[in-house]
Order: sequence, then C-alpha cells, then structure tokens
Amino acid sequence: TRVLGDVVFENVDFGYTEGKIVLHDVALYAKPGQKIAFVGSTGAGKTTITNLINRFYPIMDGKIRYDGININKIHKSDLRQSLGIVLQDTHLFTGTVAENIRYGKLDATDEEVIKAAKLANADGFIQHLPEGYNSILTGDGGSLSQGQRQLLAIARAAIANPPVLILDEATSSIDTRTEAIVQQGMDRLMEGRTVFVIAHRLSTVKNSDVIMVLEQGRIIEKGSHNDLIMQKGKYYQLYTG
Ligand code: GTP
Ligand code: MG
Repeated sequence: TRVLGDVVFENVDFGYTEGKIVLHDVALYAKPGQKIAFVGSTGAGKTTITNLINRFYPIMDGKIRYDGININKIHKSDLRQSLGIVLQDTHLFTGTVAENIRYGKLDATDEEVIKAAKLANADGFIQHLPEGYNSILTGDGGSLSQGQRQLLAIARAAIANPPVLILDEATSSIDTRTEAIVQQGMDRLMEGRTVFVIAHRLSTVKNSDVIMVLEQGRIIEKGSHNDLIMQKGKYYQLYTG
C-alpha cells in the first residue's frame, strides 16, 4: 500500500542520546501535495526532523502518522517506496549514467530512465556525453559538474515517483544558468508530491505552503511567507537580514 502523502507529527520529542533532547514538542501537518520548508540556524534540528520522517530513529514521545497510520506500523518497504530523498551531495557510484538513475527503481525500463532524465532536465547534458546514457561515471561522478550531479539526483528521485519527497538544498553556489536548469527540474520533481525541504534558497522558501522556523529544537514560528513577514519575528529578521 502506497501512502498518499499526508504526514503528521503530534507533540514529538526526540534525542539521539539519553538525556539530551534535540526536538521539543514538534507539531507538523502536511497535506498531500504541500510544500513544507524548514529554516533555522545550524544545529536547530532541520536534518533531525527529516531523519524522523524517514524513521531512521525511534521517537521518545508523541506520534508520527502517514495518512493517519502510525509510522511504526508501516512496513519498511512501503515506507521506503513512499519516500524520495535528494540530498545536498548525492552519492553516485561507478557504473553507467543509466544505472545511476535506475538506482531509484531497479526494474525501470530504458524508456522510464529517459523519461525521468527529461523531467529532471538531465537528458540534455547526458546526450552530449561521449556514450550518452551508457557513459561510465567513475569515482563518485567526479567527471561531472556539481549541477550535473544534482540533475542526476533529481532523475533518480523522479524515476521512483514517490508521494513524499525530502530535499536538502545545496548551499554551495553553482552558476545562475545551471541553477535555473536545476530549479526547473526540481520544480517538476516536486509537482504533486508532499515535499519537505531544508531550504537555503529564498525562492524555495517563499514558494512553500508552510515555512517552519526552528530554533534549538523547537518550532518557534510557522506560516506562509506573507504570514511570517507580517509577524515581524525571527523569519522576518532572517529574511530582511
Ligand atoms: P545544519 O545542518 O547545520 O544547518 O543543522 P540542522 O538544523 O540540520 O541540525 P541537526 O538536526 O543536524 O542537529 C540538531 C542537534 O542534534 C544538534 O545539537 C546536533 O549536534 C545533534 N545531532 C545531529 N545529528 C546527531 C547524531 O547523529 N548524533 C547525536 N548524538 N547528535 C546529533
Ligand atoms: Mg542539517
């Protein structure tokens, strides 16, 4: 059974180690197709929340539900199939470009690989590689630019067609033209999915349905960009620099 992408946190407390609570009383409601952005300074707990959405760790108190079902009751393989992840630095392995994309869905056909690459805006640069989709990537994709690696990561996530997506946006700068290409691929990937994004780009934050501002493991503000600007709180401070 695939989840639809309704994700709820109720009063979640969590710590990596006994006696040190890292998330305090976190509440979160994501409806299918919504974009939720996490912002906040380093160590605030952004990555930790996404770790819990993935069920990488058990929570100490509270509830996490997918479509109303307790996350602990969902079969591991169902959870894995429901979640796509695009991290700042995607791991590419030694193998062909097609194999690296197919990693997101091992039984994908060549047509599916190409379709995912097109959605991700990766098809263009792949066509220009000496062997196209059969070009071998070595040493963690070292022969590709950072932007190209990101496009492959988007293709890899797209091919699995997950209802829920976790994105950790890259902080490092790529040139504006590449960024526009990556952004367009990312926008297409996000379309119709519930997306949790650790947001660094202002464009992403502004366009999210809900922005959650974290500070020392607590959600101190949440709302749309306009709501939070009007509140003139922490988000307003971050935004106006
Ligand atoms: P940045 O990625 O730096 O922007 O921070 P973040 O908001 O993602 O913070 P994160 O969720 O990684 O960390 C929240 C708190 O949990 C911090 O106090 C970290 O030191 C702590 N923490 C994060 N990961 C681990 C871990 O694997 N083990 C332990 N023991 N603590 C961790
Ligand atoms: Mg982090």
